[in-house]
Amino acid sequence: MGNNAAEKINLSFKGKDILSLDQFSIKDINLVLKITEKMKDITRDTKPSKILEGTIIALIFYEPSSRTFGSFSVSVKKLGGQTLEILDPQHFSSVSKGETLEDTIRVFEAYCDAIILRHPQKGAMEAAAKAAFFIPVINAGDGIGEHPSQTLLDIATINEKHGHLDGLTGVIAGDLLNGRTVHSLIKGLSLFKNNTLYLLSPKELNLSREEFSNFSQRDIKLIEIQNEKDIPQNADFWYWTRIQKERFHDIQKYEQVKNKFIVTKELVTKFAGKNTIIMHPLPRVGEIKPEVDMDPRAVYLKSQIRNGMYVRMALLALVLGKI
Ligand code: NCD
Repeated sequence: MGNNAAEKINLSFKGKDILSLDQFSIKDINLVLKITEKMKDITRDTKPSKILEGTIIALIFYEPSSRTFGSFSVSVKKLGGQTLEILDPQHFSSVSKGETLEDTIRVFEAYCDAIILRHPQKGAMEAAAKAAFFIPVINAGDGIGEHPSQTLLDIATINEKHGHLDGLTGVIAGDLLNGRTVHSLIKGLSLFKNNTLYLLSPKELNLSREEFSNFSQRDIKLIEIQNEKDIPQNADFWYWTRIQKERFHDIQKYEQVKNKFIVTKELVTKFAGKNTIIMHPLPRVGEIKPEVDMDPRAVYLKSQIRNGMYVRMALLALVLGKI
């Protein structure tokens, strides 16, 4: 909001923009997790919730989305609020006539109580949050930047299965260079003690050296690997990701790296333990074989999806100061 964009949360979510995991402390994450549990109960209640009654939340998505859009939209409604949904503003709003992001934000802040924004450019969130004088902006994915609400749901899923967020060993695989969910997740897990992440990617899709050195200064052990044989036995979680085709200028380069690391039953049998959970932010486009879906350790089409809704309900209630 205005000049306070990307302020630290410090247990006070009300009115704050949610742009990056850098705004969060362990206490902030724990508060989201606590409210997330409440939200699970609310969705089971037969009486509709009125927590967001009288509020209208704008969802402005410049990039395609299924889960983030769907779960944010449903979250608002489950809490008794309403949404104003602008999908593809490049075609269906005055952006098509040349209106700037800043002007678009100022217009919708006149109508709404918060803006949930997805945008192809890293940095667009800061600009949008500064443009909004009166209402918070929530980052629903900014290009190759970050995706904080995804990390909150990923962390909720890990915590639900393991009961703790420290002392974990995880494997994060796929497009680490362009994957915004990965960037936020590493930041999130580095808040907790003694976590080790094996980063498995083709060399071309390693974390950028700038990000690697930034993340390495945090309290987390990062081990870059380029070969499946280096996957540790019995990790606590695997977090597979899609190669981000839309970020490649040269489609041939995409073709060369797209099928490098695939989760198969065989890979799971070889390296996963009985408590290893298999995660993916989705969409998957071949990097986890459907044969793995029924494995009880595979959570990507199960709890990880549902947690997206509960966590976003919690985040909205907190940011709007209703809980
Ligand atoms: C991700 C995204 O958009 O960053 N999807 C999502 O929100 N669950 C991951 C992806 O597109 O690969």
